[in-house]
Amino acid sequence: MTRLTRADLDSLPAYVPGRSLADLTRELGIAEAIKLASNEVPYGPLPGVVEAVTEAMTQSHRYPDMGVLALRDALAARFGVSADRIVTGCGSVALAEILVKATCLPGDEMVYSWRSFEAYPIISAGVGATSVRVPNTAAHGHDLPAMADAITDRTRLVVVCNPNNPTGTAVRKAELDRFLADVPSDVLVVLDEAYRELVTDPDVPDAIDTYAGRPNVVVLRTMSKAWGLAGLRMGYLVAQPEVAAAIRKVLTPFSTSLVAQAAALAALQQEDEVKRRCALVVTERARVTEALRKLNVEVPESQANFVWLPLGDKSAPFGAACEGRGVIVRPFQPDGVRVTIGTPEENDAFLAAAEFALDQLG
Ligand SMILES: Cc1ncc(COP(=O)(O)O)c(C=O)c1O
Repeated sequence: MTRLTRADLDSLPAYVPGRSLADLTRELGIAEAIKLASNEVPYGPLPGVVEAVTEAMTQSHRYPDMGVLALRDALAARFGVSADRIVTGCGSVALAEILVKATCLPGDEMVYSWRSFEAYPIISAGVGATSVRVPNTAAHGHDLPAMADAITDRTRLVVVCNPNNPTGTAVRKAELDRFLADVPSDVLVVLDEAYRELVTDPDVPDAIDTYAGRPNVVVLRTMSKAWGLAGLRMGYLVAQPEVAAAIRKVLTPFSTSLVAQAAALAALQQEDEVKRRCALVVTERARVTEALRKLNVEVPESQANFVWLPLGDKSAPFGAACEGRGVIVRPFQPDGVRVTIGTPEENDAFLAAAEFALDQLG
């Protein structure tokens, strides 16, 4: 057969979304399955968001503001940076992709920790960049000295995922300071802070406050998690003005939709409610961690809205056993299982399923 697409894409793993809730509910014939597989915060849209989206829909025959001016101004005011340093996109994963596009030519290297966010290998391969994966430490975190050592003349981009998806571990200020001092000035460092709002360890720095002044640092954030906009796709980054301007050149035009802009503006009015919800998640994170440890699972301290169970090659069977009990989790065979923190009731259902699964697997 005539080949129409790139041969190197054949070996690329596809992004695996969490299993569909409706699908499992139907299969098990139960009232409703529980999904703890996509790191969503479970408390619904923030107050005012549905109204703002409904209002914006009346203009849905018009293109959105391509410059995203009102939202960039609101984010700039919130973070105390100028609006020319902010770029928004269709989720932060799209911005991560754009960052690779803006920095790497085929054969250039992108360094990241592994295991980390499963989109990184996919987006680096998308432009033909070479992924350089640095294994996580025995404690499931980034090995920053090894990542600095992995930088070569071909390296254009280094990603630090803080806290790390899927292990929940976070790097602290002293080690990040040292790392940033070691990275050559012509290599862009992306600090991916998708879960920043859930961080409670005071030694884990807020990268916008701490590092956004550095010329070669870009801070990536999302409104999918704590801000409840996963379905509307809204991410943003903070970079130096020249870097932001270059990124805008390769951005898909109009990719921050009208409704995403309206929803994000409404959500930003609700910071107190976001903090309240994050506090609930953090309390549950501690409870779930402790309960799993009582079941003899080694759970690294999480700074995000999920926990990591390093179950090795038992990960897939554990996931299947939980699904059989109506709880969808996210196995990454053969390393571990990531479980999103849900409502207290959802977490109780997961803990019961986990006890059953661990018992069954021996
Ligand atoms: C570390 C990390 N970065 C980025 C994203 C992308 O989020 P979104 O595209 O929904 O903004 C995720 C989502 O799971 C993530 O875990």
